[in-house]
Amino acid sequence: MTKQFPNGFYWGAATSGPQAEGRFNKKHTNVFDYWYDTEPEAFYNQVGPNTASNFYNSYKEDIQLMKQTGLNSLRISIQWSRLIDDFEKNTVEPDGVRYYNAVIDEMLDQGIEPFINLHHFDLPVALYDKYGGWESRHVVDLFVGFAEKCFELFGDRVKYWMTHNEPLVVVEGQYLYRFHYPKLVDGKKAVQVAYHLNLSSALAIKKFKEFNFEHSQIGVVLNLTPTYAASDSKADQKAARIAELWNNKMFLEPAIHGYFPEELVEILEGDGVLWNATEEDLAAIAENTVDFLGVNFYHPNRVKAPDIAPNSVGAWMPNRYYDGYQMPGRRMNVDRGWEIYPQALYDIAINIKDNYKNIPWFVSENGMGVSNEEKFMNSEGVVEDQYRIDFIHDHLSCLHQGIEEGSNCFGYHLWTPIDCWSWSNAYKNRYGLISNDIRTQIKTIKKSGYWFKKVAEKNGIED
Ligand code: BG6
Repeated sequence: MTKQFPNGFYWGAATSGPQAEGRFNKKHTNVFDYWYDTEPEAFYNQVGPNTASNFYNSYKEDIQLMKQTGLNSLRISIQWSRLIDDFEKNTVEPDGVRYYNAVIDEMLDQGIEPFINLHHFDLPVALYDKYGGWESRHVVDLFVGFAEKCFELFGDRVKYWMTHNEPLVVVEGQYLYRFHYPKLVDGKKAVQVAYHLNLSSALAIKKFKEFNFEHSQIGVVLNLTPTYAASDSKADQKAARIAELWNNKMFLEPAIHGYFPEELVEILEGDGVLWNATEEDLAAIAENTVDFLGVNFYHPNRVKAPDIAPNSVGAWMPNRYYDGYQMPGRRMNVDRGWEIYPQALYDIAINIKDNYKNIPWFVSENGMGVSNEEKFMNSEGVVEDQYRIDFIHDHLSCLHQGIEEGSNCFGYHLWTPIDCWSWSNAYKNRYGLISNDIRTQIKTIKKSGYWFKKVAEKNGIED
């Protein structure tokens, strides 16, 4: 039996500027370019973002290949460090304008709906050096200026805009768990950055509304990682509630309801790390919520009560309130070290339906990163990634159930169309429907790419 998806469902994939384009003709450096330039050994096999998947040069051919995998939509991001010449005056780089116009037009010519994101971890490093990046209220205004420029230049053709991708990852990577440059451990700054990212999204939405576009909408992409407690015990349940507040609700509630969860504010205040906010900015957050939501989902978050008392000594970390829990017998992606739990997509769908106004949403990233995929290559050079087909199928099946029960999901985007560069993991984990030989940049559709095309054509999956 075919599980049919709603008419007009978006079958697509997602990538980002820094991970696909390469640094060709880019005037400015973003934080990842800079980190690679100064510490290449922090990147898997010392591969940096200089070439990435060469999308800057081969976007036409790449989009044609994507078309052959059935995509009717694609998320890319506009690099602030490519488009803007002077960050204060907001003047543009002519080649950046030419390039993004050409890419958007090419997508539209080939029948692929552009989903455009404005920030995917790629703050210009100059704004970190000068102001401390997202720690600074001034950088929020500069981001809104950049967003305005994007709406002005490309808003006539773009229907779906997104302000940020996974803002929580910026907070955790840069300010808590040290997996993004500048690798600080500073709870107070982390919390301020979380607030500023929320605020910058709301203010960019406010700016967007001033354009009065009739054909377009704006949202944000959040990595919603549902929390599951290890047991029904009071302590585990409390740990799960706080993990949920930090990991999901800190961005979800302001984006959709316009305010921060009270209990989170109380905890942060009690711990002396609460953000500085003004009445005016809080009002802007309240008034400028999203039109739709993008949800990135990779793995569930299982937690238990912490082994070390939360008020013990040490730097402030949100995970003083919860420890990770590894469920015995869980299904695993052993390459990435992540649990595979498709049921969570159903839980997300129902959570959005019941608690978040049944707002329109789409799966903006989901996927399976596997290393050394060459070992699955057949004599024709096609990667036979049946595991990825199974992974996508199982997630779509759970998503379908959520939609059947009334959740307002309008698309599914896989991470990613073509194997691309990924932050410090570089090319370690391959996620694409299309493989990329990074020495030659020869790109070949995988078995999953042919399968995905059939799914998109049928607008459904087989049981
Ligand atoms: C998502 C990010 O969190 O995960 C992507 O939005 C990233 O930018 C993807 O590439 C996969 O990450 P990784 O580290 O497994 O390559």
